[in-house]
Amino acid sequence: MKTNHLKMNNGAPIGVVGLGMMGSSIATALLLNGQKVVALSSINSKIDSEAPNRVKKSLVECMKEGLTEKGLPELLENIHFTSDYTDLRTCWLVMECVIEDLNIKKEVYSKIENNVDDTVIITSNTSAIPISILQNHLCVAERFFGMHWAEPAYTSRFLEIVCGEKSPVEMGEQLHSIAKEWGKEPTLVRKDIRGFITNRIMYAMYREAMHLVESGYATIEDVDRACKNDGGHWMTFCGLFRYMDLTGLKAYHAVMKDLFPELSNQTTVPKLIDDIAKKGGNGISNGVGFYTYSKEEALEWEKAFERFSFDINKISLKYAEKTSKI
Ligand SMILES: NC(=O)c1ccc[n+]([C@@H]2O[C@H](COP(=O)([O-])OP(=O)(O)OC[C@H]3O[C@@H](n4cnc5c(N)ncnc54)[C@H](O)[C@@H]3O)[C@@H](O)[C@H]2O)c1
Repeated sequence: MKTNHLKMNNGAPIGVVGLGMMGSSIATALLLNGQKVVALSSINSKIDSEAPNRVKKSLVECMKEGLTEKGLPELLENIHFTSDYTDLRTCWLVMECVIEDLNIKKEVYSKIENNVDDTVIITSNTSAIPISILQNHLCVAERFFGMHWAEPAYTSRFLEIVCGEKSPVEMGEQLHSIAKEWGKEPTLVRKDIRGFITNRIMYAMYREAMHLVESGYATIEDVDRACKNDGGHWMTFCGLFRYMDLTGLKAYHAVMKDLFPELSNQTTVPKLIDDIAKKGGNGISNGVGFYTYSKEEALEWEKAFERFSFDINKISLKYAEKTSKI
């Protein structure tokens, strides 16, 4: 397929398939940016049935925070909730946001491809399944890219565009430009790699964090406190490489020699998370995680995180003129 056969942004709607946490959040981000959205429930699930309410509530929060001057009716005019895949036929781009399960994603791609023409771009919000693996399950593999959002998609400026082996990089570049128009500060992963950029870096951190706790060097609380106040203090400002420049890279060079051999290189899932997951723990959503939560505490944490996401977005935008030139 020639890339110029693929449809690009032409005022047509964007399909969002799977209306869980991320699907609703992405739909909200697109509405805020004036895009038309076809929001499709991929199955008859509780989480999908609550999506219209979730989108509405998030839009109200965004209005309160001054992220849009539009009123709620005007914003909601642009979204069509449906469970009928034929409603995707007018979309130029369809974003898959279903559960992280290859077989389920495969089924969903087949349903999408049966209902859109070959020029429509299809993306996945997968956190870590390589795009080259997913795209092999499409009839038209070249139309497929990773579009990896962060939660909450409407406050974070993060968006990773990922090319698979068969995705034309120039089309990835065009998606990257469109993502900028959506108010994001996107990154383009030109060559597919499992976990893309941020998840590779984050998971290296999660592994080391679990190693420190499991080996008795520090408590969960202390690891969290340290990360909040060290990395958490500067990462939004400048990222890793600029930070090393800012603070003197020779010191990092010296430390790497001695520290790298001692960092965890465990290849199995750490017992700390395995034990909780095997007991059904899922964190805030069911009150059982690395910490435990009553219903009230879970709600308070969710609300605080939402407030913080708006605030950190404001700080990030305040410095964007300098830091976006990275
Ligand atoms: N949660 C995050 O912070 C985050 C961040 C980036 C990427 N992602 C990725 O986004 C995707 C969605 O994650 P989420 O957090 O929104 O999950 P979620 O559990 O909130 O939603 C999952 C969606 O999948 C649908 N689904 C479940 N079983 C299905 C089936 N058999 N057939 C069709 N649809 C089915 C659900 O109805 C729901 O719409 C995943 O690939 C995840 O890895 C998540």
